[in-house]
Amino acid sequence: MSTAPQIDHEPRSAEKPLTLVRGDGATEVVRMAGEPAATVTSHAAAALPDERSYAGPLGFVRKLADRAREDVDGAIERDPAANSRLEMVLTSPGLHAIWAHRGLHELWKRPGGRLPARVLATVTRSITGVEIHPAARLGRRFFIDHGMGVVIGETAEVGDDVMIYHGVTLGGRSMEHVKRHPTVGDRVTIGAGARVLGPIRVGDDVQIGANSVVVKDVPAGAVATGIPAVIRFPKRDATNQWLDPAMYI
Ligand SMILES: CC(C)(COP(=O)(O)OP(=O)(O)OC[C@H]1O[C@@H](n2cnc3c(N)ncnc32)[C@H](O)[C@@H]1OP(=O)(O)O)[C@@H](O)C(=O)NCCC(=O)NCCS
Repeated sequence: MSTAPQIDHEPRSAEKPLTLVRGDGATEVVRMAGEPAATVTSHAAAALPDERSYAGPLGFVRKLADRAREDVDGAIERDPAANSRLEMVLTSPGLHAIWAHRGLHELWKRPGGRLPARVLATVTRSITGVEIHPAARLGRRFFIDHGMGVVIGETAEVGDDVMIYHGVTLGGRSMEHVKRHPTVGDRVTIGAGARVLGPIRVGDDVQIGANSVVVKDVPAGAVATGIPAVIRFPKRDATNQWLDPAMYI
């Protein structure tokens, strides 16, 4: 039997921190250095909307369709080059990669699903240029513009309404089999080529500049630019980051 520790991929929260399951069956609670009670929740496990039940035989299909529609709408909202839903569905490698990931994440969680999920993630990568580990947790309306060169690691967690550009890495700095990738809050924008490394927390409404290297926590509402990233707080309303999408062209 392998003695390599396994990561428990249940949603992280203040009540349920990340747990390591070791080869001998023993478990160990893992917290990041200096980690307080979680402030960024795991949005990938967010509850379904109250107004609609997805119970019943076709519930899963309806849920998939609803999620896909909101993904496309979110992408159109944030991509000034988009002309129609159909165009986005047919031509956005970022959407294709995210949709593939949603299926592969479900496969990953099933018994015996890990190897096929990894294999299919590799196939997706060769088609889209986007590498997302099937265990990574992605929130709703996540959008990857341009796609190519994005890498999202195994223990990364990404909130809702996050937008990243090509070349972004949500990577680790440790070889240990623990939580080693970033936790990204809601409405975060990560510019092209940025590297966000280690089990750090990126707060809600943060903007990370193109080609920046972020290795420390970023507080909510901040702008992080440079290598290593320097934090500042913009005067304008950071939640209106999509108001003038032309600024990102
Ligand atoms: C980080 C970002 C959101 C900041 O936007 P902003 O708040 O409007 O900031 P400003 O443009 O007013 O710049 C403020 C300062 O940060 C600097 N800065 C901006 N982006 C930077 C970056 N990526 N790296 C280093 N410094 C940067 C500016 O030079 C300026 O410096 P100064 O005060 O010394 O003149 C934006 O610059 C950015 O990088 N967006 C990502 C765009 C992208 O990836 N586009 C891909 C399209 S395909």
